[in-house]
Amino acid sequence: MKALKTLFSPISIGKMELRNRIIMAPMATDYANEDGTISQKLRDYHEARAKGGVALITLEVTTIDGLSPYVPHTISLWDDKFIPSFMELTNAVHAHGAKVVPQLSHPGPESLSPFFYGIQPVGPSAVMCHSTKQMCREITLEEIARVIEQFGEAARRAREAGCDGVELHAAHSYMLVGSFISALRNRRSDTYGGSVEGRLKFPLEVINSIHAKAGGDFPIILRISGDELTPGGRDIRETQYIAPVLAEAGVNAFHVSSGVFPQMAWRILPPTGTPLAINVAFSAAIKEVVDVPVMVVGRINDPRLAEDILERNQADLIVMGRALLADSELPNKAAEGRFEDIAPCIGCGLGCIAGRETGRPMTCLVNPTVGREKEMAITPAAKPKKVLVAGGGPGGLEAARVAALRGHQVTLYEKESKLGGQFNLAAIPPLKQELCKVPRYLSIQVEEAGGKVQLNTEVTPKLIEKAKPDVAIIATGGSPLIPALPGAEGKKVVTAHDVLAGRAVIQAKNVIVIGGGMVGCEVADFLAEVGDNPVVGGTAVTIVEMLPDIGLDLAPESKTLLMQRLREKGVKIITSATVKEILDDGVVIVKDGQEETILGMDYIILAMGAKSVDKLSDKIKGKVAEVYVIGDAKEPRKALEAIAEGSEVGRKI
Ligand SMILES: Cc1cc2nc3c(=O)[nH]c(=O)nc-3n(C[C@H](O)[C@H](O)[C@H](O)COP(=O)(O)O)c2cc1C
Repeated sequence: MKALKTLFSPISIGKMELRNRIIMAPMATDYANEDGTISQKLRDYHEARAKGGVALITLEVTTIDGLSPYVPHTISLWDDKFIPSFMELTNAVHAHGAKVVPQLSHPGPESLSPFFYGIQPVGPSAVMCHSTKQMCREITLEEIARVIEQFGEAARRAREAGCDGVELHAAHSYMLVGSFISALRNRRSDTYGGSVEGRLKFPLEVINSIHAKAGGDFPIILRISGDELTPGGRDIRETQYIAPVLAEAGVNAFHVSSGVFPQMAWRILPPTGTPLAINVAFSAAIKEVVDVPVMVVGRINDPRLAEDILERNQADLIVMGRALLADSELPNKAAEGRFEDIAPCIGCGLGCIAGRETGRPMTCLVNPTVGREKEMAITPAAKPKKVLVAGGGPGGLEAARVAALRGHQVTLYEKESKLGGQFNLAAIPPLKQELCKVPRYLSIQVEEAGGKVQLNTEVTPKLIEKAKPDVAIIATGGSPLIPALPGAEGKKVVTAHDVLAGRAVIQAKNVIVIGGGMVGCEVADFLAEVGDNPVVGGTAVTIVEMLPDIGLDLAPESKTLLMQRLREKGVKIITSATVKEILDDGVVIVKDGQEETILGMDYIILAMGAKSVDKLSDKIKGKVAEVYVIGDAKEPRKALEAIAEGSEVGRKI
């Protein structure tokens, strides 16, 4: 593999000199302190990425207005009191040779001010606020003048705190600047709207204010949607018209995304299975019309792809978000050509996006150290031990990887002929194939760390007695739950696992899937796909779910696309219905208190969750000094929990 020469060549954004072309995307972590200052957790998280070799870190949304938070813990630059904690962050990042800019924002319509302060948010016009589901009001001319002043003051503070410039978020028809610049939200008929020039007036005045307060040489990056890809929105031709105007006014680099929120959230946070490098056509088009550097974002999760984009002259810099969550060391490993050692981002959104939305701190499915960088640093074991891991699913693999890295003598046993456990099945439905990257990465890492793997070997108490480990980690996973329903053992009843594993041949006209969680929805997607073919014929799929909605355990963007596919394939969805009985060729359900019989099914497919498989821990108690049960073997959940527990146990022993 040739060296990634262009990716690791220096470049400047205005007077900001960067050591390479990899930039960390702004990502709202919610890790700040309650008062908006930078917490130790947030500093450690960014320091790890600076140390990992990234050239520039873009901090998440940083509010310029004290009454306009974006997340419950929004980092803030609306007062001089925030300068000291910012300075600690900039010093920590600079110590590792990286640069740092805050994403200066007035959240505008996206402000959580109604929740925190009972204040109605403002926008260029009265539009719906996505986060609060309330209307905002049109901002007045006096307020515009004040906000412009606030942007300048916040930029001055950023400079005083040692930041290397600022980013302005003008993309996605989102927050205040992004809403002013977009006809989708700016419906004003005064000088701040009504025409391209009118919509540009506010961002141009913000740029002037930053120059006036922070200095004309303080670099400004502008994040913009190359194309809003929405009727009534801005297309790439209009962006090509406005970009030179913005550059002339002082924008030192463009950060190119696309789409608008929330209609096209899946393009902004492109999930598993969507095209890689989703915005390069737009960055290339903007590069044609400006002389300043152009940055591109959006599922660029492999440094070799990043190099290819630069070599094709489609952008000057590469912005990576989730890939740098999955592996803070991505740049350093890429520079050394250690591509197999980079923990892969699979775009699942289950740790970084879905987690935060359900109130759990932001994390990453493949990298549980996100937000716990210091506490989860890998240190050599005080006393190397003999460690046996039973089960080669993601949790077992991660436990083995970490334990082996720490110097333990590790042997992992897997009863099947390949590693990966349930990940291998999860990779089978449409668009899910890249999930295979995770067990592949972990397997290579276990081996590189010196761990031994034995396939086709089920761990039994006898094997443990013979192996005499000091530590046994039970990661034997789960098996599909067969409900205690009349008819559940019927001939036509199969599990989603059976279907995905190819154990149940489904050349069927009609199937019903019981359970509409992620597994049920994905197996429906898979079956409708298999059958929708002129040779085999079509398979009509029905999902029955007891909750009011399906796919509730999916990340929102994955859910949007999956629901679209299910609709297109004509999958019938019955919600708020419980299955009372399974018949020979159908089911009896209860919905709204009414019983209904659905007949004519060739198969009844169970996707009702899992039960733990742990045949060992009780039997080896007292015989092995330390026994840990992790992942589904402990309690049926998801890969996110299994990998996190494997990672924690690997560090504990
Ligand atoms: C958890 C999370 C939080 C994000 N928060 C922000 C934000 O504060 N500001 C912003 O402009 N974009 C935000 N984004 C979007 C990212 O900057 C980036 O555009 C997106 O993740 C796509 O890039 P990627 O495929 O490299 O992850 C966020 C993305 C994630 C995953």
